[in-house]
Amino acid sequence: MPNYNELFHSHLQSINYKKTPSGLYEPIAYLLQLGGKRMRPMLTLMATDVFSGDVEESLSAALSVELFHNFTLMHDDIMDDAPLRRGKQTVHEKWNVNTGILSGDAMLVQAYKSLEAYPDTLFGKLTRLLSKTAIEVCEGQQYDVDFETQSETTIEAYLEMIRLKTAVLVGCALKMGIYISEGNENEAQKLYDFGVKLGMAFQVQDDYLDAFGDPKTFGKQLGGDIIENKKTILYHKTLALGTSTQKIELQQWFESNKQFTDSDKILGVKKLFTTSGAAAASQNLMKEYTEEAFRVLDSLELKSKRKQILVDFANQLLQRKF
Ligand code: IPE
Ligand code: IPE
Ligand code: MG
Ligand code: MG
Ligand code: MG
Repeated sequence: MPNYNELFHSHLQSINYKKTPSGLYEPIAYLLQLGGKRMRPMLTLMATDVFSGDVEESLSAALSVELFHNFTLMHDDIMDDAPLRRGKQTVHEKWNVNTGILSGDAMLVQAYKSLEAYPDTLFGKLTRLLSKTAIEVCEGQQYDVDFETQSETTIEAYLEMIRLKTAVLVGCALKMGIYISEGNENEAQKLYDFGVKLGMAFQVQDDYLDAFGDPKTFGKQLGGDIIENKKTILYHKTLALGTSTQKIELQQWFESNKQFTDSDKILGVKKLFTTSGAAAASQNLMKEYTEEAFRVLDSLELKSKRKQILVDFANQLLQRKF
């Protein structure tokens, strides 16, 4: 089994991106070099590999997915007013908001351009998949922002929101990998469904870590979701499981016109997340989605050794600290 991360890393290093105007390209290089887990491009390469395709050929699609992901992060950090990303200043903090907008836009275009490496038919398939996914991510991001100021949101609406903003891109990363290996549509769809379930588990875990992660490894501002009144899984589980006093207290913390210090709010809300049982319930939900993902994988006709590569990767991912 090739080291997918190393393969992807050297591909990224080998690309000679345009450097001027530096105000446009430096922030792109900055964010990409901060790395991150690179799970999406690894999944693209892995999907090609387990379906006996050419991993080298898969690199441009893997890059496309990672560029797209980084574009969403650059804009997401503006929208979420986030100061830190991957342990360093966010682009709009280090430069300014206009830089974050335009460099993000350019990264989106680069994501599409990366697919130009493929012959027309494959290019068409990959581009259509990316476009479908990209518009869904925008829809998910809009719901995420809308919910900040809505107190009547449901857990069902939350689950649909995270499917759109996060999970479909994980599915897309895998499906692209299969397209390159010339797997059939049935296999591609199953692997996509596996990715979506895995992506759901991944976002639930992201919500959990935002409150309960270790500041030494997390790389983002802890409690950022609480400060921004994000209706995360922890919020919904508190409303579902808490006593009526706990529910009222949570809603008071989330009333945006109330004046609290950020650290008091984080402390108070985290206590509710723990005592209501929401923290534990969120961890359980993450495990349920992971198991669902593995059940989808079971239905896929693939040698068990190859399946195991995907299972091991998923298990590792969900034990992450950042
Ligand atoms: C962050 O994604 C955005 C979410 C969908 C939660 P990652 O957690 O994969 O971020 P990096 O790329 O590893 O930094
Ligand atoms: C991110 O959701 C989803 C996208 C970037 C599309 P979050 O806002 O939770 O991601 P982080 O926590 O900032 O990485
Ligand atoms: Mg964010
Ligand atoms: Mg966000
Ligand atoms: Mg988050």
